[in-house]
Amino acid sequence: MNITTIGTGYVGLVVGACLAETGNEVVCADVDEKKIAGLKKNILPIVEPGLGDLVTRNQAQGRISFTTDVAGAIRKANVVFIAVGTPQDEDGSADLRHVLAVAEMIGQNMTQEMVVVTKSTVPVGTAQKVKETIGRGAKFPFHIVSNPEFLKEGAAVDDFMKPDRVVLGADSDHARSMMAELYAPFVRTGKPIIFMDIPSAEMTKYAANAMLATRITFMNEIANLCERLGANVDLVRKGIGSDSRIGSSFLFPGPGYGGSCFPKDVKALIRTATDAASPMRVLEAVDSTNERQKHRLFEILSSALDGKVKGTTIALWGLAFKPQTDDMREAPALTLIDELLAAGAAVRAHDPEAMHEAKRRLGDRITLAASGYEALQGANALVVVTDWNEYRHPDFARIKNALAKPVVVDGRNLYDPAQMRKLGFTYRSIGRASG
Ligand SMILES: NC(=O)c1ccc[n+]([C@@H]2O[C@H](COP(=O)([O-])OP(=O)(O)OC[C@H]3O[C@@H](n4cnc5c(N)ncnc54)[C@H](O)[C@@H]3O)[C@@H](O)[C@H]2O)c1
Repeated sequence: MNITTIGTGYVGLVVGACLAETGNEVVCADVDEKKIAGLKKNILPIVEPGLGDLVTRNQAQGRISFTTDVAGAIRKANVVFIAVGTPQDEDGSADLRHVLAVAEMIGQNMTQEMVVVTKSTVPVGTAQKVKETIGRGAKFPFHIVSNPEFLKEGAAVDDFMKPDRVVLGADSDHARSMMAELYAPFVRTGKPIIFMDIPSAEMTKYAANAMLATRITFMNEIANLCERLGANVDLVRKGIGSDSRIGSSFLFPGPGYGGSCFPKDVKALIRTATDAASPMRVLEAVDSTNERQKHRLFEILSSALDGKVKGTTIALWGLAFKPQTDDMREAPALTLIDELLAAGAAVRAHDPEAMHEAKRRLGDRITLAASGYEALQGANALVVVTDWNEYRHPDFARIKNALAKPVVVDGRNLYDPAQMRKLGFTYRSIGRASG
């Protein structure tokens, strides 16, 4: 098939590369000239395992190309994926400006019967708006599909290639059969394609993210309570996660969820629910509780330093909102850095992949160190913010030697409290007895 993806970010690029890999002719279009110029030379705008190889191989074999000529890319396609951003608007709702601008271009530039697929996360009712917008300019028949994307940053290629399920809301048999054909290579192991009506597909994406955000937040509150009561959240997590009704994923406590999706999608669903006079009280609590959790690391650190944060230097391990990505959107590290700087501390930070992004966002407000150990030089304490593999089993003697005071705040419960105590650290983590 001739596929065009419009928006070549995390989602559009992964979708385009994976569909090219299965033999389709793919054009990835974006208005960001720098991004497209880089991609033409196989330089990726994001860090995502396996994606570089896919782009390089398929570009060399002529199955994927990159362009800023969005109209031209639409003219070539019989299937178009809309994968532009849907950022948070001022009132919390999803800002549909980019989606609808693309829909207008599709209507004006289509040259044949077309299937238009919304990949962006959009509120219920958006497909209808997309349909009306395209319809105003369309000279050919077109079909609308809502195909929410469930990939995780850091494992995006794997998730797209081996999805747990594919959700497809479609308004015609033609659209359903085209999409079934397109996705057939990815569901050969028997994972389901779940066909549904379009509003249900749009809702499924929000419900999934809201559920996951709720699990994380629930565990963060359990952890905070464990800390107060002398229980160990790691044991509680194992104890409940082995219940098949609950399952073990997304039960790790930490400094609050971040990233480009959960915060904005939770807020957008709250807005949708309020507008529909069906408020979601649980989700409102999730949103505000998560905001509070983002301040936990600073509170724990401050208490470990007896409130004396001013004038200290704090080493941070991890800046990305999670491992295997350089994405710092809504990252808990940003909240912590703001609080540390406001309290008069200096920050020395390291991240295996997000250094460029940190430089772009923070400039000279913090010092970026070439390695985790270099970040420790002259620091009064270490805070582990992101659970990158390379921070999981460090040389503790080296940490202790480098730190002016042996204080470690572990925001991801990577280390063993008893061992840290034995090694002479003042050790704090989330939801476990203090060291
Ligand atoms: N990032 C994720 O993990 C993830 C997962 C599932 C769903 N989503 C959803 O997918 C959508 C895209 O997310 P993302 O993370 O890929 O965003 P992103 O910001 O990485 O990429 C969006 C791209 O769209 C481009 N763009 C904006 N307006 C355009 C236009 N008019 N024409 C062409 N290109 C345009 C931007 O330049 C940018 O490159 C969002 O709705 C998001 O909620 C994201």
